[in-house]
Amino acid sequence: IIKNRSDIGAGTRGADLGIDAMEIAAINMNNDFFNHIPFVDVKTHNETIYNKVNSSSAKRIKFVEEQCQRVSDAVKETLLNNETPIVLSGDHSSALGSISGIKAAMPKSRLGVIWIDAHADLNSPYTTPSGNIHGMPLAAALHQDNTEMQNNRPNDETISYWNKLKNLGTNFPKFEPEDLIFFGVRDTEEAEDVLIKRLNIKNYTVPEVRFRGISTCIKEAIERLWNCDKFYITFDVDSLDCDFVSKGTGTPVSFGFSPDEAKQLITGFLRTEKVVCLEVSEVNPLLDNKGNKMAETAFGVLDYTLKQKT
Ligand code: ARG
Ligand code: MN
Ligand code: MN
Ligand code: MN
Repeated sequence: IIKNRSDIGAGTRGADLGIDAMEIAAINMNNDFFNHIPFVDVKTHNETIYNKVNSSSAKRIKFVEEQCQRVSDAVKETLLNNETPIVLSGDHSSALGSISGIKAAMPKSRLGVIWIDAHADLNSPYTTPSGNIHGMPLAAALHQDNTEMQNNRPNDETISYWNKLKNLGTNFPKFEPEDLIFFGVRDTEEAEDVLIKRLNIKNYTVPEVRFRGISTCIKEAIERLWNCDKFYITFDVDSLDCDFVSKGTGTPVSFGFSPDEAKQLITGFLRTEKVVCLEVSEVNPLLDNKGNKMAETAFGVLDYTLKQKT
């Protein structure tokens, strides 16, 4: 378990507490998950958020870059130890760190990315509506600045850190767009829509999954990724339905997956034995309108899927 208690890529504070909220959920469920899996604490500097940034095309990018580098190092080291990292993160900018770490450890492997999220996280400093870097990890990993759809003028410092982010782990795009599959993406901006279309990224929407059947969709997704040697799964909890589960996440979205559907999705991919890293992110207990429900749900999904595997 890699505990990355950082939320500086998000727009609202509190996702750094999500990791401990999941741990408390486990304790309250009498579950000893956290007691017998070795863990590392990634160093953070969440305090930098006190330097309030009001508007920027990429808020706190210097610190996000450092944080992603630390996540990348932790993931790489875990993999080189022949262990499978479970990354528990605050905000989802960590995904860039995880992917970079995988590529640094296994540069020759063709990586398939299973992205379970309400968002496409395909903005760049040029297109972002918010300046929050948790909306950008996939654009960085794929080297997609998308300047054709430019809305902002990032300054030179921002651009230089953005280029550093893109080159974390490898100096080239970390995987092929055709090896990326979305599940549950339903809240995107126009610049992202253009990119999804241009890169021809498959998105299994919630209605499609329900209409065609979840196992049919999983099977088809695995076939699409047939040529990939390794898989990375990232589970942003805002993929879940915020009305049925809870609003305990920075950017909650309605009409999402049920916890059972998330369990089935992750379990289905874990069964392939190709998964080298699983990440859970964006639990924010400070925003939860139902006690600690999002953390309990996220932990429940994680615990269930890992038990199916072993
Ligand atoms: N698309 C929005 C933005 O770029 C929201 C991104 C939310 N991302 C997340 N990982 N929760 O600001
Ligand atoms: Mn996300
Ligand atoms: Mn999201
Ligand atoms: Mn939106």
